[in-house]
Amino acid sequence: MFDADLIKKVYEHLPNRVNKAKNKLNRPLTYAEKILYAHLFDTQPLEVFERGKDYVDFAPDRVAMQDATAQMALLQFMNSGKTTTAVPSTVHCDHLIQAQVDGKTDLGVSFNANKEVFDFLESVSNKYGIGFWKPGAGIIHQVVLENYAFPGGMMIGTDSHTPNAGGLGMVAIGVGGADAVDVMAGMAWELKMPKLIGIKLTGKLNGWSAPKDIILKVAGLLTVKGGTGAIVEYFGEGAESLSATGKGTICNMGAEIGATTSLFAYDESMERYLKATGRSEVAEMASGIKDVLSPDPEVYENPEKYYDQVIEINLSELEPYINGPFTPDLATPVSKMKETAEKNGWPLEVSVGLIGSCTNSSYEDISRAASIAKQAVEKGLNSKADFTITPGSEQVRFTIERDGYINTFEQMGGKVFANACGPCIGQWARPGADKNEKNTIVHSFNRNFSKRNDGNPNTHAFVTSPELVTALAISGRLDFNPVTDTLINEKGEKVKLDPPTGYELPTKGFDVKDSGYQAPAKDGSNITVSVAPDSNRLQLLEPFKPWDGKNITGAKLLIKALGKCTTDHISMAGPWLRFRGHLDNISNNLLIGAINAFNNESNKVKNQLTGEYGEVPNVQRAYKAAGIPTVIIGDHNYGEGSSREHAAMEPRHLGVRAVIVKSFARIHETNLKKQGMLGLTFANENDYDLIREDDVFNFVDLDVFAPGKHLTVEIVHADGTKDSIKLNHTYNEQQTEWFKAGSALNLIKKKN
Ligand code: F3S
Repeated sequence: MFDADLIKKVYEHLPNRVNKAKNKLNRPLTYAEKILYAHLFDTQPLEVFERGKDYVDFAPDRVAMQDATAQMALLQFMNSGKTTTAVPSTVHCDHLIQAQVDGKTDLGVSFNANKEVFDFLESVSNKYGIGFWKPGAGIIHQVVLENYAFPGGMMIGTDSHTPNAGGLGMVAIGVGGADAVDVMAGMAWELKMPKLIGIKLTGKLNGWSAPKDIILKVAGLLTVKGGTGAIVEYFGEGAESLSATGKGTICNMGAEIGATTSLFAYDESMERYLKATGRSEVAEMASGIKDVLSPDPEVYENPEKYYDQVIEINLSELEPYINGPFTPDLATPVSKMKETAEKNGWPLEVSVGLIGSCTNSSYEDISRAASIAKQAVEKGLNSKADFTITPGSEQVRFTIERDGYINTFEQMGGKVFANACGPCIGQWARPGADKNEKNTIVHSFNRNFSKRNDGNPNTHAFVTSPELVTALAISGRLDFNPVTDTLINEKGEKVKLDPPTGYELPTKGFDVKDSGYQAPAKDGSNITVSVAPDSNRLQLLEPFKPWDGKNITGAKLLIKALGKCTTDHISMAGPWLRFRGHLDNISNNLLIGAINAFNNESNKVKNQLTGEYGEVPNVQRAYKAAGIPTVIIGDHNYGEGSSREHAAMEPRHLGVRAVIVKSFARIHETNLKKQGMLGLTFANENDYDLIREDDVFNFVDLDVFAPGKHLTVEIVHADGTKDSIKLNHTYNEQQTEWFKAGSALNLIKKKN
C-alpha cells in the first residue's frame, strides 16, 4: 500500500534541499529542521525563518483522515473541482465504532448505526483516489505507522495524535479538516515555524520500565502546555535503544504536552520495523541517506546551541509512571503511588484495566503485557479487575492471535474489543457508567480527561504502560507496585510477578488475512457519490455564493459576544459530533455557547425583526429567510481552541456576512477567510463599546476591498444616531480573491 514512487521522489530531493537550507542558515541543522526546510511549498522562498514567529508555507507529502473529521473535509474537497487529491491520502474508519461486547459483535452494531457515513467515505475515497481503511481495519495512527510513515517525510492528519508517525522519523502534525482540504486540493499548508525542544535519552530501559514511561515522565516535567508551538526531537543512545513502535508511543503522546509534533532520527530500529512491515525498499532508500535523516553531528555535541530547550533523561534510572487522574501530566512514579493516592483520596480499587489503542498496541506492547498475563495464569492468579484489549490494527490483532497472546489474555478473563478507538474516545458502552460512581480505571491510552472514556465524571482514569496496566488489573489495586510487592494466589501462596519480557517484532513475521484496505478506483470519473437527500448525518455542500461586488448594507447585529468565545462556544462538540457531515444540522449549534453582552446569557439574542428574544441559530435563520445580512461582534482572541472549520462554515451557511472582533485566534481567522467570510478587527478596540443591541451596519467602502486598506462601517443606532468606525483586516491579494469568489474552494474550482 505504501507509495514507493512518492518516497523515491522525496528522497531524490531531500539531500539537495537540506544542503541548500544549511547554506542559507549557515549552521548545522537539527533533524526536524531538515525535514521542514526540505518541505517548503513551491512559492515559499527559502529564508531564515524565526522559530516561534514566522509563518511558513509547507508542502506535506501525505494526508490521513479519520472518519469523524474526514466527513466535512471530503464534502468540501468534492467542491474543489479536482478529480483526485494532490497528494496521497487515506481515510480510516475508527472513531465511530463503539466498544461493548466484543470486536465482532460491536463492529456489526456500529456498522449498521453508521452505515451511511461509512458508505459515503468509501465512495468518495474511491472516486478521488483516496485509500480507504474499512471499519475494523484499525486505528488511524497504527495503520499509518504500519503502512505509510517514512523517515524524512512530512504528513498532516486530521487527528491530534498524528505525531505517532514520528516513531518512524516523520514530521507528522495533527490538523483540522480545513487544512487537509488545502493540501488535498494542492494548496500550501501554513504553519508557524516551530520552536525546538531536544530530549536527550541516555542509558537503557530495564525491569518494568517501558517507552511509555519516558513520555509520562516528560509530561510531568513539561506539563500539558510545555510543548506548545514546539517540535520535540529525541536523541542519544537511549533513543537508539528503543523500538520504532516504542518511539511511536512517545511521539503519539507528545500531543499531551501540546507539542506540534515529536520525532526520532532514522536508526536501525526503524530499519527493522520497515522491513518487518513489508517495506524493505523504503528501508534501503532511507539507509542510503542516513546522514540526512538525522541531525548534523554538531547538534549532538552541543544541543543547547541548536534547541530552544534541552532535557536529559537517564533511562537506566527511569521508574514506571502512572499519570492521572483527569490530566495526563500528573505524573506519579509507581513507588510513590500508594502515598499519593491515599493523600488525594483516589479510589484504590482498580475496576478495569484497558490496554491497546493507537498509543500502545504494538506487537512489542502486547507481547510484554501478555508475558504478565501468562505469569498470572501460571502462578494461579486471577485478574481482580476486568481487562480489555483494543488492538491498533487488524494486522496486529491477527498476528497476536496467531501467536497465542489473545488466548493468554482470555485465560486471564480478558475481552478483545474491535480494532478501533472505542473506550479511548468515549465510545465505550460501559455497564453501569450512568450511575456516575466514583471508581478507578487504568489504561494504556494517551488521554484521561474527565468523562473521556466512559462518560462518567467520577471515573478516575490513570495512564500507564500496557505491562503495568496488566499488573494493576491482576492485583486490582492502584497502589500495587510490581517491583516490590507480592500477591496472594488462589492457593493462598505469596507470589511475585517477574518483570515483563517480549518481542520487538514477531519472530514469525506479521500476518493478516484481510487488512481491511480498499484501494481506490484507477479512474473514479464514473463513480457517483451518493448522499440521501433526507439524511440526518450527511449533506452535500452547495458552493457558497460569490460576492456581488457591492457594499453590504442594512446588516443587523446577530450577537455581540462577551469575553471568551472559543470554537466550542461557536460550534459545540459533544452530541453535535454526529452532525459533523451535515452542515445545515450542525448549524443549529451556531454560537449557542457564546454569552450575549446585552443580557449575559447564552443562546438568547434579540430578533430585531420581532423584538423578541430567541436562540441564536433560530434568530439567524429568521434573518436569512428575510434576506437580511448580519454581523457578529466579538471580543479578544475570538475563535481560539480547535481548528474545526465548522465554526467558520456555520455562520457562512446561515447568512452571516462579517465577524468583527477585537482580535482573532489566527486559525479561526484563516478559516473565516477560506469560507468567504469577512473577518475584521476594530481599528480602535474601544469601538466594541459603541455597538448596541438594535444596530444596523452599512459598509461604506467594501466595494474597493483591497489588501492593506482599512474598511469603514457606518453604524446606525435605533435612536437614529450614527457612528462611523474603521476596521482593519489582514487579507492578502490571494485572500481577497477567496472573498470575491465566495470561498477558497470556489477559487480553486474556477482555476481548474
Ligand atoms: Fe483513537 Fe484514542 Fe487514538 S481516539 S486515534 S485511539 S487517541
